[in-house]
Amino acid sequence: MGLDIKPSSNASYNSIAIIGGSGFYDFLEEPSKISVTTPFSSKPVIIYRQDHEGKFLYFLPRHGGNHTIPPHKINFKANIFALHSLSIPRVIATSAVGSLHPSIRPGDYVLLDQFIDLVRPVTFFDGDFSVTFTQGTKISGVVHLDMTEPYCPEIRNILSVILKSDLSTHNKGTYATTMGPRFETPAEIKAFQHMGADVVGMTNSSEAILCRELGICYGVIAVVTNMAAGLQKQVNHEEVITIFETRSANLKLIFHKVIANLPMHKSCSCAWYIEK
Ligand code: HPA
Repeated sequence: MGLDIKPSSNASYNSIAIIGGSGFYDFLEEPSKISVTTPFSSKPVIIYRQDHEGKFLYFLPRHGGNHTIPPHKINFKANIFALHSLSIPRVIATSAVGSLHPSIRPGDYVLLDQFIDLVRPVTFFDGDFSVTFTQGTKISGVVHLDMTEPYCPEIRNILSVILKSDLSTHNKGTYATTMGPRFETPAEIKAFQHMGADVVGMTNSSEAILCRELGICYGVIAVVTNMAAGLQKQVNHEEVITIFETRSANLKLIFHKVIANLPMHKSCSCAWYIEK
């Protein structure tokens, strides 16, 4: 049986969602909590919302409020569909990553522009799904989407302008996705290095794919929390959280600057179903 889902209201370019990864569990100061039901889970998706200087801000902690959801159990489809049903046109996510290169150090930011994700099939378009976009376009069945620019170039440009004087920011980077929740073996890391990856993590490419399918712009600021397996003695989750937390306050400032600078129209092609 097909699902035919319409978003609840008109897209507002004043709305933006932040998805927080490991170590980034809150963003808004006095949020209201909303529960969004989706066809993809019996449980609602919990999203936090606050209006701020004429903008509608949403926050979704990907691992739950207290890091209770491991990467392989995140319901990516429910999360992204919930954002779609709130007509949110843009998402920026944080992502903790391990570095594969000596020049990319713990504490650095990487503005991802590519990913290598050969691990997890994730799609809304699995044959019996149809979606109606805000301006009425209806897409259904099997869709093979272009992924030449998997992350929104417009969001990455805004981030790189804001971070241009930050010497610890890398303006490009290729993310290799693993299933988690375990960290990698040194042999896996060597293989990813040969494949051209710069950093490794367990989550964000699934979100990038699902957002693109629904025409939502998706940008990421990856925070390097450790050197990947084999490039330091051991990798552990406590270190990931500790290093990430040293960047949390700065990340919040960056997000507020991005929000203040968001254009009221999109110049990218992330909303691929709109003919230009
Ligand atoms: N590997 C996978 N995911 C991660 C890492 C890592 O080294 N660091 C932070 N998230």
